[in-house]
Order: sequence, then structure tokens, then C-alpha cells
Amino acid sequence: MKSIVILISGRGSNMEAIVHACQREGWPARIAAVISNKADASGLQFAAAHGIATAVVDHKAFGSREAFDTELAQVIDGFQPDVVVLAGFMRILTEGFVRRYEGRLLNIHPSLLPAFPGLHTHQRAIEAGCKLAGATVHFVTPELDHGPIILQAAVPVRADDTADTLAARVLVQEHQIYPQAVRWLVDEQLSVHGGVVRHLDGRQQVCWSD
Ligand code: GAR
Repeated sequence: MKSIVILISGRGSNMEAIVHACQREGWPARIAAVISNKADASGLQFAAAHGIATAVVDHKAFGSREAFDTELAQVIDGFQPDVVVLAGFMRILTEGFVRRYEGRLLNIHPSLLPAFPGLHTHQRAIEAGCKLAGATVHFVTPELDHGPIILQAAVPVRADDTADTLAARVLVQEHQIYPQAVRWLVDEQLSVHGGVVRHLDGRQQVCWSD
């Protein structure tokens, strides 16, 4: 049985999708803990209500990114995870932290990376006149919102979209692709060569929505 730790900063809807998929599909894994850098992250309540251990490491209590990441890693390691999942965890991580979990640290970002790393992705996609937007699950590397791409979901950008309507349409797809990607990693179905991720059985690594 593998052990998964999920990091959140807020609502945690991607974390919920992963918890539900893990239970519903009977993964050979358990969600060992949900950890937040914010005590008021509403996702913590969902986790506790589902019998999952929760912890808070408040970044404001630390004088440097290094000090925060060191404490965060200690708390994570207490749960001995095989997989660490960033699910709306809105902190820039130090290289030391990322290297510690390299190959088992995943992130979801609400854009078709490498386009639009960082914040305000949906507004930026609309302003750039993009006809497609989406989300990307990737292995985390030290460079923010980069790293080998596991799965992407593409959705059309509509003429009347606002950042909110586009975000809502993308989020529906996030809830499909993130549990899928975590499961593939748990099931050891992924290979990475030269920064390119392949599913061992050649499963499609893109999800289209209209
Ligand atoms: C999601 O849209 C996720 O892709 C994004 O934050 C949201 C969290 O929602 N993550 C990032 O922007 C990371 N760069 P959630 O808390 O409901 O899962």
C-alpha cells in the first residue's frame, strides 16, 4: 500500500477529487495526510471529515523559504509518503525541497504549460486571444510551473469567457486528469526519458473537452 501526502493552500477541490478517486477505485494507496500552509484552508475540513490526518505549517512563522521548506519536509516525511501531490499549494519551493522529492512530486497548473506559468493564467490566456486553454499535471522541477508533463486537458476558450467562466470549465477537467495522473504514478505506469513522460501502455496523455 503506497502512501500519498497532499499539500493545499485553500479550497482543495483537486485534493477532494483525488481522495474520492482513491476510495472509489480502490487504489493500492492511501491518502496519509493533507498539509496546508494556511490554517484556514477550507480543504482541511474535508480531509478531517474523511478521517485523513491534517497538519498546518504556516509559512508566515518562518524567516526564509529555506526554513519553511525544511520544516515542511520534516512534517511530510513523518508520513513517509511515496508520492507528494501539490494541489493548489501556492508557495514557491526551494530547489532543495524539490530535489528531495524528485520523481514523486506532482503539481497541477491551470494552463497548457509551458504557456502561462505563474498566476492569473486564465486572464492571460483570454488577453492573448488563445483559442485553447487547459490544465497540466507535471513532475515538479526547481523551475516554477515547469517539469515533465504527464497529462494535459484542453478546453476551448469561448468568445464570451471571463477568467472565472474559463477557470470553472478548466477546473472540471483538472478533477479528471489529476486523479488519473496520481494513479498512474502510484501504479508505476510512467517512464521519463529526456524530460518526456510516456505511459508504459501508450495511454493517451491528453484529454479534450468541448
Ligand atoms: C487549481 O485551479 C490549480 O490548478 C491551481 O490552483 C487551483 C486550486 O484549486 N494551482 C495553481 O495555480 C498552481 N500554480 P483547488 O484548491 O480547488 O484544488
